[in-house]
Amino acid sequence: MPASAKATAADPLDALYPAHHEALCARYGRLLENTPFAAVAVYAGSPRYRFRDDQSWPFRAGAFYQQWVPADDHAGAVLLFRPGRRPLLVLQMPRDYWHSVPEPPTGGWAAAFEIAVVDDAAGVRAALPGDLSSCALVGDSDAAVADWGWAAVNPPQLLHGLEFARLYKTRYEVECMRAANTIARRGHEAARAAFLDGASEFGIHLAYLEATGHAEAELPYANIVALNEHGATLHYGRLDRDPPAEPRSFLIDAGARCRGYAADITRTWPAGPRGEFAALVEALDHAQQDLVESLRCGRSYVDVHENAQLAVAVILEDFGIVNMAPDDMVATGVSNVFLPHGVGHHLGLQVHDPGGKLASPDGTLLPQPEAWPFLRNLRPVEEDNVFTIEPGIYFIDSLLDHLRGSPLGANVDWELVDVLRPYGGVRIEDDVWMGPEGPDNLSR
Ligand code: GLY
Ligand code: MN
Ligand code: MN
Repeated sequence: MPASAKATAADPLDALYPAHHEALCARYGRLLENTPFAAVAVYAGSPRYRFRDDQSWPFRAGAFYQQWVPADDHAGAVLLFRPGRRPLLVLQMPRDYWHSVPEPPTGGWAAAFEIAVVDDAAGVRAALPGDLSSCALVGDSDAAVADWGWAAVNPPQLLHGLEFARLYKTRYEVECMRAANTIARRGHEAARAAFLDGASEFGIHLAYLEATGHAEAELPYANIVALNEHGATLHYGRLDRDPPAEPRSFLIDAGARCRGYAADITRTWPAGPRGEFAALVEALDHAQQDLVESLRCGRSYVDVHENAQLAVAVILEDFGIVNMAPDDMVATGVSNVFLPHGVGHHLGLQVHDPGGKLASPDGTLLPQPEAWPFLRNLRPVEEDNVFTIEPGIYFIDSLLDHLRGSPLGANVDWELVDVLRPYGGVRIEDDVWMGPEGPDNLSR
């Protein structure tokens, strides 16, 4: 059974779904009050085909749709929300012996909808009200639905409002992500065992899939399985078929999904318990947990990011990699050479969930700090946010070359850097829910 989207009658998440559904109804209702629209249709989308080819990319229903309906395979489905009425779900279940069709909607979530099952897009249109001129469509619109007479397709006002609201997770969403983390942890344990067994990147990847029960297309993002210096490529995407002659280090950034909700976990492992790199992994692991513990509602996430830069700078100084005061390393951008990405991002139905740069639901953006162009979350930390905390220390040739050529390069122990380069880098990443009691680490 694919772990990503199935709902069964015995699933405890079903008990949490009705309150989630009510919260969505309230959100959509409030949002509509400030728009000219009387209703919203949420479109699951449809398969997209490769250029001049009859093979489609793997289909996955869109995030706005999956927030309501936990199913990846509802191609062509439309959900109609009208304030004060039970939402109508129109599902396509074609009589098709070429392709698999979605399973009948029997999960606990299905009771919350009025459901119509039809054969094709024409059937979907016929099941919706004849006049859609006061209804906005949200989703990955295509030729099948574009000319049905919508009041608007993806009006920014609605997209921003819905994405802003997605920053605040319901208890159902949090527990979906906790369950996704449990699945991902199984994969990480199997992957580490495969690494210690001498497997190739490809072999480790297969061990991960097997342990999580995920097909590749069900993952929230492509697994990053990096041995040795490959760990220095932040989104390393190759999967070498042969193991390296000398396995030294292993960085794995891999997630899982539950009802559409993502886990996003990174671990780094040295091949043996001794040596400079193993000590570096341990130091960053402690710093990462300190960062998680330090999270407080009201604190700016930009401040959390700057603290991560400082924590990395402290480690660089402790290890004698850079001989500078940690504050100066952050101020001059030296720490950024070793940690050149943001400390994290919001997480939800998308691995990089939207909304982290919004100042308000109207779409106004927060200013991106000049020093941190890659930071995806600029908002204050708030209750019911779920985001990642993922500091790293990398030995990236192009960035190190640049530092070496600058006056600040004189502060670096380049011999030590050369010892560490063949290990690639370290990243430690967990998913954190800001619950009523404070930070709750969903990954550990
Ligand atoms: N897995 C992508 C990221 O950590 O942002
Ligand atoms: Mn991440
Ligand atoms: Mn990640």
